Amino acid sequence: MDIRGKKFTVVGGAGLIGSHTVEELLKEEVAEVTVFDNFTRGSEENLAEVINDPRLNIYSLGANIMHTDHLDKAFKGTDGVFHFAALWLLQCYDFPRSAFDVNIAGTFNVLEAIINNNVKKLVFSSSASVYGDAVREPMDEDHPYNNETFYGASKIAGEHMCRSLYKRHKGSDKHFDYSGLRYFNVYGPRQDYHGAYIAVIMKILDQLENGISPTIYGDGSQAYDFVYVGDCAKANVAAMKGDTSDEFYNVCTGHRTSIKDLANMLIEMTGSDLELSYQEADQMFVKNRIGSPDKAKAELDFTALMELKEGLNKLIEWRSSHKEEVDQRRRAVESN
Ligand SMILES: NC(=O)c1ccc[n+]([C@@H]2O[C@H](COP(=O)([O-])OP(=O)(O)OC[C@H]3O[C@@H](n4cnc5c(N)ncnc54)[C@H](O)[C@@H]3O)[C@@H](O)[C@H]2O)c1
Repeated sequence: MDIRGKKFTVVGGAGLIGSHTVEELLKEEVAEVTVFDNFTRGSEENLAEVINDPRLNIYSLGANIMHTDHLDKAFKGTDGVFHFAALWLLQCYDFPRSAFDVNIAGTFNVLEAIINNNVKKLVFSSSASVYGDAVREPMDEDHPYNNETFYGASKIAGEHMCRSLYKRHKGSDKHFDYSGLRYFNVYGPRQDYHGAYIAVIMKILDQLENGISPTIYGDGSQAYDFVYVGDCAKANVAAMKGDTSDEFYNVCTGHRTSIKDLANMLIEMTGSDLELSYQEADQMFVKNRIGSPDKAKAELDFTALMELKEGLNKLIEWRSSHKEEVDQRRRAVESN
């Protein structure tokens, strides 16, 4: 899609990846960007850098993907929708009924409103969680659905609802295009403490600040593909611009980093001389997950360019310039 002069609605646009995507979109010659978010996890602070852009509009009538009349109203005249709103992995584990409502029924509501309002394209946020533990590496998009979590199940359902409704309406007056993005482990400024894998970065930085040895659960050999949030935003814009439809893409770097290496990197970057301390893991979802970035590069011309060290530096800088927000995010987890 040529996005110049077009209107977009970003569902979940006040969250981590959503707010960076809003910023990325507003760097382009788009006509309007509407954020549709119920602020359960997202915040207005996340939109601070673009809040004065006259093209930004925050849907303020009570944005919730469970409320179909609001979705209908928000999508009127919208050319493209980005759908980020979802409950996160650990919340889906604790509250599968709520996860079913928001991630599955809510995604259906978003799709229905897209179809009813002739929105031209959707970029759907899936997840590398659909793959579960690696049966082969790097994981390309044909890797089996080896998922065992309810969160992953809800993303698989989302992918298949996109595909089946796309096929059903293809070529008719209700035709819409879509792409699905499977992000790997997303980190960067504005992240909070809710992530199952990623919160480890925030917790290690807290420990280092407080002179406490960073805790590693298990032996630290579990390895992931850490991708910078700004790169995820770029992937979203590339997917909206792209000519492909009915495809899923990994959003990853292809680089393997173990938790032990990540922790040692943070120790070095913060100039600490503390040693790692190891604890038995009480809950571990996936031990290995490294993606193949090839399909996104070939079909969307997207490559995640941020080096891990540089991205972590940006996160550290953000933490030191947003101490109050970081405290709030820490308290939000401690109070539960
Ligand atoms: N962050 C990651 O590492 C990661 C990895 C893989 C996939 N994903 C997926 O990418 C998407 C974005 O992730 P994120 O990390 O930015 O999440 P996030 O929680 O920061 O953002 C989601 C936003 O949706 C909003 N929201 C939640 N329920 C809503 C509802 N009922 N109605 C309206 N808004 C609602 C929240 O307030 C939040 O601002 C999610 O779908 C997530 O599952 C994230």
